[in-house]
Amino acid sequence: MAFNLGWFLNRAISQMYSYNICAFFIAIFIFSEPCLAAQCPGTSISENDISRWNIDISKNSPLPSGSGTPLMGKKIYLEKCAACHGETGEGMMGIYPALSGGIGSLATTTPLRTVGSFWPYPESVLDYVRRAMPLNAPQSLNTDDLYSVVSYLFYMNHIIPQEFSLNEKTIHSIKMPNKDGFINEKEENINKNTPRDELRSRLGICLHP
Ligand code: HEC
Repeated sequence: MAFNLGWFLNRAISQMYSYNICAFFIAIFIFSEPCLAAQCPGTSISENDISRWNIDISKNSPLPSGSGTPLMGKKIYLEKCAACHGETGEGMMGIYPALSGGIGSLATTTPLRTVGSFWPYPESVLDYVRRAMPLNAPQSLNTDDLYSVVSYLFYMNHIIPQEFSLNEKTIHSIKMPNKDGFINEKEENINKNTPRDELRSRLGICLHP
């Protein structure tokens, strides 16, 4: 019987090849099943995990209770914040924002945005620090430490005196220097398409190029 070795080898190899492809897909199918349940990266988020982050401070939500003074806050600041934001809150150019100074500079050609010069509400500063800082260990401050370090930020910016005791009630009495520096888009009937010239002339807004 005639026997073509070339043809036989060719068949055998391509057969093996297609078996391998099949085996490959079967393996993916088998191994992906348990993976869906347990081994894939990421897990479903639990109510408990959500509640840890669902802590935003809005107009009517209660603030966490706690208290602190700038004197206590200075210690925490130097330990947990100064490495990035500088000993006096001067920041690190282009890397870590300055937290103090710049009051009155926003309408100049060299604006410096800080807690003192920019943030309109003291409660927002508390909310931000509470959820996000220190950057390397967010939510690690207890509430007394939180109030203390935030009071130190206000003190640094000459917004409160050294003996001020910051707590969930006294925080509302603080008037931030830039409180009136914001406009309400709805009240003023403006939006992102309003010409810059109109913003300048009608609202006296200083716009930098
Ligand atoms: C490892 C570095 C690091 C440490 C430590 C750190 N921060 Fe920050 N902080 C940052 C960075 C980076 C940002 C800017 C984050 C952004 O804009 O998304 C920031 C932003 C802030 C802001 C907002 C500034 C602004 O005007 O936008 C405040 C307030 C602040 N930090 C307070 C603190 C306090 C208080 C501590 C200590 C309890 C602290 N940070 C520790 C890196 C750090």
